[in-house]
Amino acid sequence: MHKPLIEICELTKTFPSAGFDKVLAVDNVSLKINTGESVGLVGESGSGKSTIGLLISKLIPVSSGRICFEGQDITHLPERKMRALRSDIQIVFQDPWGSINPRFPIGRTISEPLLLHTALNSAEREKEIKILADRVQLPKSTLERYPHELSGGQLQRVSIARAIASKPRFLIMDEPTSSLDLSVRAGILELLNDIRRDTGLTLLLISHDLDTVELMTERLVVLYLGRVVEQGRTSDVLLNPVHPYTQTLISSNLPPDPSVILKRLKATGEIPSPLNLPKGCLFGSRCPLFKADCAINSPAFAELGHSVDMSAKHLAACNRVQDSSYKIL
Ligand SMILES: Nc1ncnc2c1ncn2[C@@H]1O[C@H](COP(=O)(O)OP(=O)(O)OP(=O)(O)O)[C@@H](O)[C@H]1O
Ligand SMILES: [Mg+2]
Repeated sequence: MHKPLIEICELTKTFPSAGFDKVLAVDNVSLKINTGESVGLVGESGSGKSTIGLLISKLIPVSSGRICFEGQDITHLPERKMRALRSDIQIVFQDPWGSINPRFPIGRTISEPLLLHTALNSAEREKEIKILADRVQLPKSTLERYPHELSGGQLQRVSIARAIASKPRFLIMDEPTSSLDLSVRAGILELLNDIRRDTGLTLLLISHDLDTVELMTERLVVLYLGRVVEQGRTSDVLLNPVHPYTQTLISSNLPPDPSVILKRLKATGEIPSPLNLPKGCLFGSRCPLFKADCAINSPAFAELGHSVDMSAKHLAACNRVQDSSYKIL
């Protein structure tokens, strides 16, 4: 039996909005991530992916639910006690320009977590910064330069160096390559895989891009409007998607080649506002398999197939699970 490094239970986050309305960004999400595992979190824009990342890193407070790290409930841990754990849980954001201080030379940016989380002296820090630059394949000459003098790919390597400087056990990557050119992406993903292989790092990878999660993760969680609609082994979910929402996500990712016969399923209509969520199944209003009961019954998770590994069960929350015959041809 695997021991979860991170466990979130019934996590919910609402944000205040104009008037008395509230944005329900994350709704009752539960998830376990085992040590050494790499889990992908996918879903359309606004589905709550980044909010989950921010909640787990404790950069924003939860509205309700629980976050545990190695069995310890850290949901309401005071900042003073959280400090020791900050080095263990790190997050890399989509936009390296937004998360790096433009007035600091790169070396100083990478050294910040060393100052905060280690007892290294100045000479030891200098040495460690060079090791980290090597690790993320940044030329040493960049350490004295400023962010505006670096490319997007180099800056994302700086973000990764900073994130791994404190030797975290859990790394959240929020769309780490989506602001980068295709040619640069592959290098960053390869670097992440190398780091995982060498350090046993546990990873939560947030991404729009199904090719990236297929390459980088063992388990996949699909979010729609703040709720988990499907989860399981990445290969199970991508090759045998059961929830119509997952099927539409995969369809929109398929190659636009008319000579290839593919079964495509398209979502119709607009994504509902998180200020005014529909009753029953949240995907009902856009679902190609919609039937009247979907507007009434909120679907529970159904288990698909049989998995020996309890934490990798293939689950989907859909009233039409039995009707779903979608296969990637
Ligand atoms: N600080 C905030 N105040 C109010 N609403 C917010 C705030 N942050 C997020 N939201 C809302 O919460 C919902 C989830 O947002 P979130 O950024 O987590 O989505 P996402 O899946 O990361 O989207 P994207 O793929 O575009 O990054 C959205 O409706 C968003 O507008
Ligand atoms: Mg986001």
